[in-house]
Amino acid sequence: MRNLLALAAAALSGIVVLAPTASALPKVSRAGKYLYTEDGNRFFIKGIAYQTQGLIVPGPDNPLNQPSTFVDNLADAAACARDLPNLQKLGINAIRAYAANSSLNHDECMQALSSAGIYVILDLTLPLNGSIDTTLPAWSTNTLDQYLRTIDAFEKYDNILAYNIGNEVITPKATQSPPFIAAAARDIRAYLNSISSSALIGYAAIDGAASFVLNEANFLACSATGSIDLFGLNNYEWCGNEPNTTFDGLNARFADYGVAAYFSEFGSENCNPAPRVWTEIPVMFSGPMTNIWSGGLAFSYFGAISKGHEFGMAVPSSDGTSVTTNADFDNLAAKFNAVTFVNGPAKSASTPALPACPSPTPPAWNASNTIPQTPDDAACGCLANELSCVFQPPTPDYMALVGNLIGVACGLVQTAGGTCDDISSDGVKGTYGRLAMCDPTIKLSYVMSQYYELQHRVNTACSFRGNATINANAKPNLLVSAAASSCIPSAAVFTPSAPPVLIPGAGAKTNTTSAGNAPGGSTTGGAMPSIVSRSVLAGMTSAVACVVGGMIWTLA
Ligand SMILES: *[C@@H]1O[C@H](CO)[C@@H](O)[C@H](O)[C@H]1NC(C)=O
Ligand SMILES: *[C@@H]1O[C@H](CO)[C@@H](O)[C@H](O)[C@H]1NC(C)=O
Ligand SMILES: *[C@@H]1O[C@H](CO)[C@@H](O)[C@H](O)[C@H]1NC(C)=O
Ligand SMILES: *[C@@H]1O[C@H](CO)[C@@H](O)[C@H](O)[C@H]1NC(C)=O
Ligand SMILES: *[C@@H]1O[C@H](CO)[C@@H](O)[C@H](O)[C@H]1NC(C)=O
Ligand SMILES: *[C@@H]1O[C@H](CO)[C@@H](O)[C@H](O)[C@H]1NC(C)=O
Repeated sequence: MRNLLALAAAALSGIVVLAPTASALPKVSRAGKYLYTEDGNRFFIKGIAYQTQGLIVPGPDNPLNQPSTFVDNLADAAACARDLPNLQKLGINAIRAYAANSSLNHDECMQALSSAGIYVILDLTLPLNGSIDTTLPAWSTNTLDQYLRTIDAFEKYDNILAYNIGNEVITPKATQSPPFIAAAARDIRAYLNSISSSALIGYAAIDGAASFVLNEANFLACSATGSIDLFGLNNYEWCGNEPNTTFDGLNARFADYGVAAYFSEFGSENCNPAPRVWTEIPVMFSGPMTNIWSGGLAFSYFGAISKGHEFGMAVPSSDGTSVTTNADFDNLAAKFNAVTFVNGPAKSASTPALPACPSPTPPAWNASNTIPQTPDDAACGCLANELSCVFQPPTPDYMALVGNLIGVACGLVQTAGGTCDDISSDGVKGTYGRLAMCDPTIKLSYVMSQYYELQHRVNTACSFRGNATINANAKPNLLVSAAASSCIPSAAVFTPSAPPVLIPGAGAKTNTTSAGNAPGGSTTGGAMPSIVSRSVLAGMTSAVACVVGGMIWTLA
C-alpha cells in the first residue's frame, strides 16, 4: 500500500493550474427514470470501481469486513497517470471512487480523467465515523459538513457525475437508517441547488430478497424532497455464462421505477474459478434492459479482498510505478468496447411518477417515513458554548472513545433520574431528539453536563476519569436543557450553508462547533463509576455506536 501522506505532499507541492479542457464534458441530468446529456441523448454509465482497498481489521465486530482506513486514489496523480491508459483500453466513461479527503489536491487526476472523457461517481462517505451508521444511524453536523467539504473540493471539476450519500447502509437485518439517508438526500440536494451544481445524488444499495430491494429502492425515491436521482444496486446475480433471463425478475421489479437505476457494482466470481467472461454486459446494454437501467460499474480495477474473492483486474508493482492487468481485464475490455449505446427513449417521453413510500411492515421493514431535520451548525455551536461540563479529548483520535463515553454518561444520567432522549434518534419510531443532529462530541458534553447538574455541580461529577472539564465560560446556573431550548429551534428544514473551517490537525473539530476545546475549569480527578448496568445501556437508542455502514466491499 502506498503512503498517503507522501502522496499528499507530492500532490500539494506541484502547482497545478486547472487549464480549461479542449471541451468540457457535457453535463448529465436526470429526467424521470433516465439520464441525458445536454444535447438530449440518453446517457449510460459504462464504468469500473477505481478504489484501493483500505485496511481491514477482521473480527466479530466487523462481520462485513469493512476497512477502517482509506486511500484517496483521486489525490494520487502518479497512479492516475499510470492507470489512465488502462481505463482508456476498457472503453469506459465513468469510474466510481469510494472515498476522498477534501483537504488534498485532486486537480491532476480529475483533469486527466476528464480529458479522457471519464466521469466520476464519488462516494461522500468515509470509513468509521464518516458515514451514516447501519445500526445506530444519525444525520448530524459532522457528517453533513464532511459531505459538504468534499462537494466543495470537487465541484470545480466538469466530470463529477454523481455524489453517493451512502453505500450499503440499509441492510436486510437493519432497516432503521433510511430516514437519515433521505434527510441527507434532501439537504445535499438543497446545497447542490444553492451552488448551482448539476451533480446527481446517488446511493449504492446492498442486494437482497426482492421485497427488501424494492423497499429500499422505493424509500429512497418516494419523496419529492428526500429523493435520490440515481439508485445503484450492488448486484452479483449474474455469474459466468448465464442465460439472458437471469435478470428477468430484477427487470420486472424496476420496470416502472421513478428515478434512474444502474448497477453500482457487478461482476461475480462465485461460480467460476476461470477468468470472468462478462457476458452480462451485452444484455445490460441492449433492450429490454436499457429501458430499465442506465448501465453499470464493473467491480473492480484494484483488488478488493472479500469472502475469499479478489475481484481485482490490475495489480500495481511493489514500487507503484507500473501495473499488470489480468484476463478479467482483457475480457471486460472486449465486452465494454463492443457496446453501442441505445439512444432512447427521447427526453420528452412521459416520465413515471415517483413510487409511494413503503409503509413499515415489521419485522422485515421498519423504517419510519418521518425524516429528521437539517443538521444546524449554528444551533449546535450556540449550545456548545453553554455546556457546563465538556468533553476534553485526550488524543486527536477520540471518536471511538466518544461512543464509549456516551454510553457511560447516559447510563449515569438515567441512573440519576434523567434521560438521554435529547441526543437520541429513532428511525423506526420517527422520533429525533433536539440534539440528535449535533456532532457526537457535543452530544457527549451535553450528557456529561446533565450528569454534572444532576449531581448539583460537584467538581467530581465533571471528570469522567479526566475526560471532561468544567466550562468556566458557561453562564452560571444555566441548565443545559434551558440552553438547548434557547439555542435550538424546533425541528427545521433549511438549505445548509458552506461548512465551518476544519482546523488542521484537530480531527473532526471545527472552529464553531467544538465542545471539546472550551477553556476552563479544573479537573479534580473524581472517580467515574465504571460499572453501568447492561439494562440501563440496553434502553438507549444512541449509546454505543458499533458497525458503520460506510465503505463495504462485501457482497449480499
Ligand atoms: C486528509 O489529509 C490531511 C493532510 O494530509 C490529513 O491531515 C487528514 O488527516 C486527512 N483526513 C482524513 C479524514 O484522512
Ligand atoms: C425490526 O424491528 C424488530 C423489533 O425491534 C426487530 O426484531 C427486527 O430485527 C427489525 N428488522 C429489521 C429488518 O430492521
Ligand atoms: C434474451 O434473448 C431473447 C432472444 O433474443 C430476447 O427476446 C430477449 O429480449 C432477451 N432478454 C434480455 C433480458 O435481454
Ligand atoms: C466511531 O467509530 C468507532 C469505530 O467503529 C466506534 O467505536 C465509535 O463508537 C464511533 N464514535 C461515534 C461517536 O459514533
Ligand atoms: C477517559 O475514559 C476512558 C474510558 O473510560 C479511560 O480509559 C481513560 O483513562 C479516561 N481518561 C483519559 C484521559 O483518557
Ligand atoms: C474562527 O471563527 C472566527 C469567527 O468566525 C474567525 O474570526 C476566526 O478566524 C476563526 N478561527 C480559525 C482558526 O479558523
